[in-house]
Amino acid sequence: MGEITNVTEYQAIAKQKLPKMVYDYYASGAEDEWTLAENRNAFSRILFRPRILIDVSRIDMTTTILGFKISMPIMIAPTAMQKMAHPEGEYATARAASAAGTIMTLSSWATSSVEEVASTGPGIRFFQLYVYRDRNVVAQLVRRAERAGFKAIALTVDTPRLGRREADIKNRFTLPPFLTLKNFEGLDLGKMDKADDSGLASYVAGQIDRTLSWKDVKWLQTITSMPILVKGVLTAEDARIAVQSGAAGIIVSNHGARQLDYVPATIMALEEVVKAAQGRVPVFLDGGVRRGTDVFKALALGASGIFIGRPVVFSLAAEGEAGVRKVLQMLREEFELTMALSGCRSLSEITRNHIVTDWDVPRLLPPARL
Ligand code: FNR
Repeated sequence: MGEITNVTEYQAIAKQKLPKMVYDYYASGAEDEWTLAENRNAFSRILFRPRILIDVSRIDMTTTILGFKISMPIMIAPTAMQKMAHPEGEYATARAASAAGTIMTLSSWATSSVEEVASTGPGIRFFQLYVYRDRNVVAQLVRRAERAGFKAIALTVDTPRLGRREADIKNRFTLPPFLTLKNFEGLDLGKMDKADDSGLASYVAGQIDRTLSWKDVKWLQTITSMPILVKGVLTAEDARIAVQSGAAGIIVSNHGARQLDYVPATIMALEEVVKAAQGRVPVFLDGGVRRGTDVFKALALGASGIFIGRPVVFSLAAEGEAGVRKVLQMLREEFELTMALSGCRSLSEITRNHIVTDWDVPRLLPPARL
């Protein structure tokens, strides 16, 4: 293959380079993978209404997220076990995010600890939390993340059980024996046993707290002063409860289509969540973002920023830190170009009128007459 010119191209390279078990874990979605395809397809049904003859010689993509200034509204979602992709794993991702001036979210199930990632140098980082049955484990981990300088918790709320990822079942997926879930190593929860189905599904069934509920969002606020983003909201109803429960932000996410299949694409769910949040907390989106145009569409529908998942692990597998840097750079340049060609010079100039969706009332056609 010649020069890489877009984010999606890294997937084929990763597929060539990685062991099948690892690639399948990164790539797959739940069951029929309908939502996996829909996360992409839905973006393609949203079109632009660009404005012309606006001086776009200067484009400002900077924004402030929970009080932290970043270079662009493109951030890194938590993806587990990055050392399966590349020996430098989460270190490489942390350095690439920091170099790009954006935020990295570290997974609970990282193969590097919060302290190790903090030691890679400066950078604004969030910590993604899975709530274990043993709340002492949770409290300890949250304290460690806070001490290591993490700035927010992304509380994943869509995983009381693991979604049915059939590739992982067929492959008997498990964490390779030379790696551990580093944050849990000292707690004797860092290893994943091989199971006669998905080893990760068994791990989740054994350790993750299925009783997790809104009262635990309140409980979390009693054990940390970090702001809490609720990750995995897809409805207006839950957006309202998240705000009432003290969430500092909402991430519209379907876990990269890896949990419940046949939920809508996140870009389809975004607007109802934004409306329900009534501007009281910022709303973010992840799922299927692969182009600068996707970033723009999410912002036009009211998102304050987006996160990318698979592009990070695929580029990491292909080229390590340089790959992740390139992904962030390509998305940055595409997003900047989209802003210029739509006539938007800053994020605040991106409006709902810059796009048209298939749920908008037709505005161009006169009403049909009988
Ligand atoms: C994930 N995701 C995820 N989410 C989370 O809260 N904790 C985690 O440990 C992981 N791990 C993980 C691993 C892999 C391989 C993937 C693909 C995804 C979900 C992730 O944060 C995010 O929601 C999606 O990846 C976004 O969709 P895209 O960008 O992958 O399409």
